[in-house]
Amino acid sequence: MKLKQIVQATIAATALIAGVQVQAAEVEVLHYWTSGGEAKSVAELKKMMEAKGIVWKDFAVAGGGGENAMTALKARVISGSAPTAAQIKGPSIQEWGKEGVLANIDAAATEGKWDASLPKVVSNIMKYQGHYVAAPVNVHRVNWLWVNPEVLKKAGAKAPTNWDEFFDAADKIKKAGLIAIAHGGQPWQDATVFESVALGVGGPDFYKKAIVQLDPASLTGPTMIKTFDTLTKIKTYIDKDAAGRDWNLATAMVINGKAGMQFMGDWAKGEFTAAGKVAGKDFLCLTAPGTEKAFTFNIDSLTMFKVKDADQQKAQLVLASAVMSPEFQEVFNLNKGSIPARAGASRAKFDSCAIKSMDDMDATSKSGGLVPSFAHGMAIDSAKAGAIQDVIAKFMNSTMTSQAAVQALAKAAKAK
Ligand code: BGC
Repeated sequence: MKLKQIVQATIAATALIAGVQVQAAEVEVLHYWTSGGEAKSVAELKKMMEAKGIVWKDFAVAGGGGENAMTALKARVISGSAPTAAQIKGPSIQEWGKEGVLANIDAAATEGKWDASLPKVVSNIMKYQGHYVAAPVNVHRVNWLWVNPEVLKKAGAKAPTNWDEFFDAADKIKKAGLIAIAHGGQPWQDATVFESVALGVGGPDFYKKAIVQLDPASLTGPTMIKTFDTLTKIKTYIDKDAAGRDWNLATAMVINGKAGMQFMGDWAKGEFTAAGKVAGKDFLCLTAPGTEKAFTFNIDSLTMFKVKDADQQKAQLVLASAVMSPEFQEVFNLNKGSIPARAGASRAKFDSCAIKSMDDMDATSKSGGLVPSFAHGMAIDSAKAGAIQDVIAKFMNSTMTSQAAVQALAKAAKAK
């Protein structure tokens, strides 16, 4: 134990929850926030907990999209030593709830008036059988295209607003000797591109029918064929070293002008920000072609596991309250690239990309364009999501035809 931790462990905590004084305790938090921007974000939570006299035990498992982290989590829960909290989101929260291993944190939610502070689309996901079991940290938007304007200028290209302009810009960047599309060949990144393309090609109603409701006719119909045809074209603009590349290294290629564009959620903005880059000047956040009127949401949350000791239970409630505090929601999201999960958060310190995200989330929640991200575990259960992701990865890494892909997709959608 470091000296600082020993001191903290011996000082009575000052945090108050529901009028109860919390004694020094520990929270162990499993997450996969290990890139530059992500690490800065989670460090704010650690700081906040330590300021409340609670020891932060970091359980970081590297690997974008969280697959490695979920494997580590399963092993820990099976062995009877679940962490205090883990970065789990969407329908997976329900899957863990069914296992009977999640903690009820209604005490923190009632005290903090969460029902009144959260949009329904967020609070519904945080509850299992009507009780809060998770605390939301943010709302990420996935359907972004990150662009280096300097690269566009060099190539004589303009910022694309539709697919024709996108491929025109990609051609020009390629001709200028640069990489048009920065990508990392990992299944979850392939899925991230796929869902933005499906949304851009087919619109939100198609996306919902095909990817959320898994309607067989939509999964195999002409719009899905066109989605895969578009992906085939996209593949020709990705460099040959993309296999296995981490997402943040792909983002770095856009940051340093090696590549022009990247399809990625706004955790990528955390990398631009950490590199001291300014939105609208050093980089552009454009909605992925054809998706201006839609918003794929990806809500990160810390899901709470049952802990035995009374002190640990109190510390867990303090953690939940801290996560939902306006201060944390602001500082975390300024670093993470996302926007606060709390409704009505102050916009003063956020950049133009975040403001656009806030406005578009409001607008799309009224228009029907607000849709859950499939690639980031918000749309369907994990077995089906995994099987569909495998099909997309296979498509991206082979010469599979669009016809074969849609048939495989429909089959994967039945996975149990
Ligand atoms: C998570 C983000 C994370 C990203 C890259 C997404 O699924 O929601 O918090 O930054 O993966 O690991």
